[in-house]
This record gives sequence, structure tokens and C-alpha cells, in this order.
Amino acid sequence: MSLRQFISSRKFLRSIVHLKENVSLRWKEFAELFGLHEDVFEDPRHIKLKEPVTVILLGSGNRGSIYADYAIKNPDEMKVVAVADININRLNKIKKIHKIDDAHCYSNWEDIFKSSKFADAIIIATPDHLHTQPCLAALDAGYDVLLEKPIAPTEEECRLIFRKARACESIVGVCHVLRYSPYFRGLKEVLDAGLIGNVISIQHMEPIEQIHMSHSYVRGKWKNSKTATPILLAKSSHDTDIIRWLVNSPAKDVHCFGNLKWFTNINAPEGSTERCTDGCKVEQS
Ligand SMILES: NC(=O)c1ccc[n+]([C@@H]2O[C@H](COP(=O)([O-])OP(=O)(O)OC[C@H]3O[C@@H](n4cnc5c(N)ncnc54)[C@H](O)[C@@H]3O)[C@@H](O)[C@H]2O)c1
Repeated sequence: MSLRQFISSRKFLRSIVHLKENVSLRWKEFAELFGLHEDVFEDPRHIKLKEPVTVILLGSGNRGSIYADYAIKNPDEMKVVAVADININRLNKIKKIHKIDDAHCYSNWEDIFKSSKFADAIIIATPDHLHTQPCLAALDAGYDVLLEKPIAPTEEECRLIFRKARACESIVGVCHVLRYSPYFRGLKEVLDAGLIGNVISIQHMEPIEQIHMSHSYVRGKWKNSKTATPILLAKSSHDTDIIRWLVNSPAKDVHCFGNLKWFTNINAPEGSTERCTDGCKVEQS
């Protein structure tokens, strides 16, 4: 580290203390002080489009609806022109909100590919085990893809997608959303500007709060690693991505380990039921 960097690191670290004492020193003032981008909500690479990107939505559940909502808030950037979902209620909800005609509402992702390409991109927000086939089909049909994480449940499938995307020269953007949050954007700015010096080590933890943990990983969609992506892949794919992005360097080796210690039948509280709504006694206490 140069002396100049060292001095600016010290200045920076001092002002962090100041930041704690005086919360009114917000990112904007902070950025001004250290020559960083003032708006961490806005990606400086964002360009104004001449026409909205037309997208097909595969899977209109939780994530799919969030992405589709972007089209409502930013009609000059994105337009949802078709949707596929096996759940008729969700399908109809998106159909209504986005004013999609019947001909472009499909009851299964596969049906989309019976027609030749009719939009710019496809958003794949189907469950984890339904990422690879739709993604390969979308690439074959000439679409760019916004693919929910995890890319696929196995390394082999991830490599298949990677090779296909390269061969088609198409975009496969993976929804590692932490990169777009103002918090991590700010952190990246600070690191790239060398304001805290050389990064020797990073300790990063995503604390999964109790509602997300109980409703996703104890009894929710990812409750059993035999039928869904294990928690280590579901959650830590974000962690490996964010660390790799922050340090600007690919991972050489990744190790994951863990076991199911607490959330087992043996530790279920007395009177608890399969679902809270089944008359669970603990729910009332
Ligand atoms: N980026 C993130 O931070 C983040 C967060 C949560 C979930 N995810 C990922 O997003 C994906 C979707 O998760 P979700 O929480 O929205 O799940 P969800 O169950 O709410 O939505 C999935 C939708 O896919 C539909 N679907 C199932 N089979 C289909 C088929 N054959 N054809 C068309 N549609 C079909 C389901 O009916 C459902 O509406 C998962 O891969 C998940 O791991 C990413």
C-alpha cells in the first residue's frame, strides 16, 4: 500500500467512526468526501433504452412476480409479453396485471418453445430443478436469459449452460441480487477505491432471520435436500458470488459443510403440528 493510500485509509476509517456517532452523515456526503459514486441506488452503467426489452416470464411465483413488477414501475425499460405457469391463479394474476392476451399465456414452460422467438429475453423463475432445461431451450431459441439462482442443482448442468451460452453468444444473467443492493454497492465502491487498504480476508455471514428460515428451510420449499436444493447451495451461492465480486477475483476452491442438527423431529416442541394452521399448541403460547 502506498503512503497516499495509507493516509486516505486512515482518514476513511476515522470518518467511519464519525459516521457511527453522527448518523446524519449519509452515503451522499460520504461519497462526496472520498470521490465515490454518489448514488449507490443507480448503476452508472445503466443506459437509457430506445424501446422496452420484451420478456417472457417462466414461473410467476414469488420471484417471477417481483421481476415482472419492474415492468410496471419501468414501462419504458421492460414489457412482459408472455407468461407460463402451471398454477392457473398465478398465471391469471400476471395476465391481468400485464394485460397479456390469452394466446401468450401458457400452462407449462415447454409450450413457450413451440413457437419461434417472439421476445427479446426470458426470465426463468421456476423452481430450482426447472432451471437447466428451460435455460438450454431459451438459448437454443435465441433468447437472452435472466436466470434465477442457483444456476442449476449440479455442476454438470451449470457447465452445460455455460457452454451453451458461450456458443450462442447470449446473455445468461444470474440473479445474484446482493450485487445490486445499495449496501454491497457502497462496500464495493469503498473497496475498489482502496479506502480500507488491501483486502487480506473477508468474513461474511448471511443471518437467515427466523421467518425466512422456518418458512423456507424448515417446512417450506427447501425443507428437504432430497427434493430441493440444499440450504448450502441455495444461500451460499449468494455468498460465493458476492465475495468473488468484492475481491474481483474468481474462487479457486469452495468448501461447504454442515448438518441438520436442530430442526429435526426429535426437537419439535410438544404440541407442534405439521403446519401452524393444523391447531398447533405452540402457536398460541
Ligand atoms: N435471487 C434470489 O435471491 C432468490 C430468492 C428466492 C428464490 N430464488 C430462486 O427463484 C426461483 C423461484 O423461487 P420462488 O420462491 O419464486 O418459487 P415459487 O414457488 O414462488 O415460484 C415458482 C413458480 O414456478 C411455477 N412452475 C412450476 N413448475 C412449472 C412449469 N413446469 N412450468 C411453468 N411454471 C412452473 C410454480 O407454479 C410457481 O408459481 C427458485 O429457483 C429459487 O431458488 C432466488
